[in-house]
This record gives sequence, C-alpha cells and structure tokens, in this order.
Amino acid sequence: MNRALITPAQFAAFGAAGTDAHRMFSDGDGWIERLAEDVLISHKSDAALDAMRDGLAEWTAANGWQPRRIFGKLLPKQNEDRDPPVLLSGDAAMPLTGVVCENGVSYGLDFAAGYSAGLFLDQRMNRAFVRNAAPKRMLNTFAYTCSFSVVAALAGAETVSIDLSKKSLDRGRANFALNGIDPNAGHKFIADDVLEVLPRLARRGEKFDAIVLDPPTFSRGNKGRRWQVGQDLEELVIAAMDLAAPRSRILVSTNCTTIQFADLERIARFALKFHRRPGDLHREAQPPDFPPGHGARTLWISLRG
Ligand SMILES: C[S@@+](CC[C@H](N)C(=O)[O-])C[C@H]1O[C@@H](n2cnc3c(N)ncnc32)[C@H](O)[C@@H]1O
Repeated sequence: MNRALITPAQFAAFGAAGTDAHRMFSDGDGWIERLAEDVLISHKSDAALDAMRDGLAEWTAANGWQPRRIFGKLLPKQNEDRDPPVLLSGDAAMPLTGVVCENGVSYGLDFAAGYSAGLFLDQRMNRAFVRNAAPKRMLNTFAYTCSFSVVAALAGAETVSIDLSKKSLDRGRANFALNGIDPNAGHKFIADDVLEVLPRLARRGEKFDAIVLDPPTFSRGNKGRRWQVGQDLEELVIAAMDLAAPRSRILVSTNCTTIQFADLERIARFALKFHRRPGDLHREAQPPDFPPGHGARTLWISLRG
C-alpha cells in the first residue's frame, strides 16, 4: 500500500454530510469502501488484500471505528470471472443485505446479488448534481438499482428507469420506497433493452430535461444484440438527444478504461453537431475519496436550446 487511508477528519466530514458509503483507501492494487457498518475490500491479488486488511486493522485500532463485517472481492482481469464478494470476517449468520446513506438518501445493498452490491460510489457528485438541478422529467438508462432516479424523484421529478434486469429495477422500486417515495406515483420502470426503448420513446414524442447514460463496457441485449461502449456510445448519445427537451442536461459516463474525457467530449460535440443543437460541456468535480484515475469518466452536456 503506497497511499494513506482516509483521515479521521475526512471520515467525520462524510458522516456530517449524511454519507456512510465512501472509499477509505484507493491505490493501483485495489480499494477499501466503507458501506455503513460494513467494509468491502476490492483487490487485484491476495497480497494486495492482505496489505489492505493490515492497513485497515491499524486504522481502526487508531481511530476507534470497527467494521461489523469485512467483505473481499477479487477484481478479475476478465468480466466473465466476476464473482460476488465473500465474507472475510464478521457474523456469517447475518443477512447479506444492508442500507447505506449518501447525502441523507438511503440505498439498499445486497452482497449476495452479484459482483456489485447496489450503489456505485463514484457517481456521488453526479447524483448530487441531478438533485440540485431538480429536473421535471428524468430518463435513467442502464438504471441498475435506480439511484439517479431516486435523487431526481426526491427533487420532484417524474422518472423513467430502463434496465434489462427486472431484478435490478425491483431493487430500484425498493430504493424509492426506502426514501418515502411511492414508486407507482409518476414513475415508470421498463425492463427492456435501452437501444430498443429509446426509439420507441422518440416516436411517442417524449421529452426529458435530464437523461443519464451510464452504460456498461460490454453487454448482451435483447435477441443477443452485443453492446460495446467503445463502438456504440456515439450512437447512444445521438439517440438520447432526440429525447432531450430544450435546456436539458445529459450525463455521459463510462468505466471503460480505453475511453478518456477527450473521447467523451468528441462524442458529445459530434452529437450536438449532428442534431444542430447548441450546448455546453462540463464535468462535476472528482469525488474527494477517488484519486485521479479512479472512478468513471463522466461528462454533462447542457443543451442551450
Ligand atoms: C454500469 S451499470 C449502470 C449503473 C447505474 N447507472 C448506476 O449509477 O447505478 C449497467 C446496467 O446496465 C444494464 N444493461 C446492460 N445492457 C443493457 C441494455 N442493452 N439495455 C438495458 N440495460 C442494460 C445492466 O443490467 C446493469 O444494470
């Protein structure tokens, strides 16, 4: 480990902001996330896991905060080798579910649900941006557990969340309920292929003033259709812009390591030119617990007309 863990002041600042889901440490070999009372260590090797466990033990002894459980998750070289986290310490009889808070908003976690437990922490600043922007209608594509829809709904938006996985959308509905929002009041959850739904929405003349595009690097959609972000992102942004109301905002985000900010900017400018619409580009600040090079590359397109 060649970086320090989170400082006690940073740890306390997250707590004061109503956030108990954040990174405690990151380097090239993995990272440590606090998830409410639990900790998840994502590691590239057994040696990295051991080093992070030792570092965490020193930190908790010095700072008087003990995790209830520690989970470990191998960061595999191939997507196909992705396994759910394993319990490394703590009560094995406890349910593998939990709830975390981010800026006072609650999200359910499930450590048994698969490789990801339910909330991508690197999107914290973008979720805050959506909540502040207070859109009236928001379209959340590749919605997963609908965290972006929840913050939009809390700000008063009607939301449409699309994901291939019905199970993820059900978890999204549960996230609405967890925050006191009725998921059936002005919100739609569409379990289908984003690439097929977007043209359908466009044909119906639907418009949104916030659109989230945060696709996976690879996936197989309906009828075995292959999605590859490196090849297909430009077409996705162009299709989404058909649904963008005047002065709306579109988030373009990727975890694909071969796509850099400059690539996102090029794609965004091409889509604006294609639609002959004026717009500005900006990036929200990197979350303070994510060092440079960690987390998704994200870009907001703000349409001026
Ligand atoms: C990277 S996650 C999205 C994370 C989400 N934006 C968030 O911040 O929580 C990718 C999601 O895309 C969904 N997905 C993959 N291919 C899809 C497709 N063609 N149409 C709809 N959803 C898809 C997966 O089921 C998964 O939930």
